[in-house]
Amino acid sequence: MFENKTVIVTGAAQGIGKEVAAQYAKMGASVVMADINEELGETVYSQLVRDGYKAIFVPTDVRKEQEVIHLMTTAVAHFKTIDILINNAGIFKPASPYDLPMETFDDIINTNLRSVFLCSREAAKFMRLNPKGGAIVSMASTRAFMSEPNTESYAATKGGIVALTHALASSLGPDSIRVNCISPGWIETGDYGSLKEADHLQHFSGRVGKPEDIARACFYLTDEKNDFVTGINLTVDGGMTKKMIYEE
Ligand SMILES: NC(=O)c1ccc[n+]([C@@H]2O[C@H](COP(=O)([O-])OP(=O)(O)OC[C@H]3O[C@@H](n4cnc5c(N)ncnc54)[C@H](O)[C@@H]3O)[C@@H](O)[C@H]2O)c1
Repeated sequence: MFENKTVIVTGAAQGIGKEVAAQYAKMGASVVMADINEELGETVYSQLVRDGYKAIFVPTDVRKEQEVIHLMTTAVAHFKTIDILINNAGIFKPASPYDLPMETFDDIINTNLRSVFLCSREAAKFMRLNPKGGAIVSMASTRAFMSEPNTESYAATKGGIVALTHALASSLGPDSIRVNCISPGWIETGDYGSLKEADHLQHFSGRVGKPEDIARACFYLTDEKNDFVTGINLTVDGGMTKKMIYEE
């Protein structure tokens, strides 16, 4: 489905981004993996190449404008076009709002939210040159809509991504660039086998999510046949945000 497409995935060295990058590679895409963690990124990308897939790794700090510009120009130099961007890089640092230093708040905004605007803008400059435009998907979170204590900075970035998504969908629509986001619920990126039965059964789906659940959502949103879908948030959470809870 994604042969002849170039896909950029940020935060691709581990977790959801690693799986999303690998799944696009298996679908025939040329994958550009970007991450701040060079050692892990090199290891993950080398394995994909050894397995016969088309991939490059570009060490990138998505907070830094020049590094993001370099990411996009490197992608085009290698694979000629940019067709799909998955804005996945993100950090989560819970802290009491009474104690959270403003430097930390700013860093989370820059890493999770400002980066989505920056990467989208720089990728769109190339996508608009394609006859069929392109597709952008950003990782928001169910925490854009509901909260636990001490998560203000993260929640603000994820709510911001949902709003940025429909704003960009409006601006970039004339260039045939679709912009959507995904709100994952609990996606286990560690040892899935060590989860408790209660972890699974609290979901309507009867199980905790896996990175491949998010990869399939990315496929749906970036499939060019689905060109009537833009500006949306797709919640992939096993039903948790629809669960009504009254404490006894
Ligand atoms: N796992 C979940 O349950 C879940 C739920 C909702 C949303 N999300 C979102 O999905 C995305 C991926 O989550 P994950 O659980 O796989 O996280 P993760 O921590 O496993 O991976 C995040 C990756 O982003 C990279 N990264 C961090 N800062 C960066 C920077 N400045 N520049 C470039 N790369 C940077 C990290 O090195 C890492 O490889 C995040 O945006 C996260 O907020 C995850």
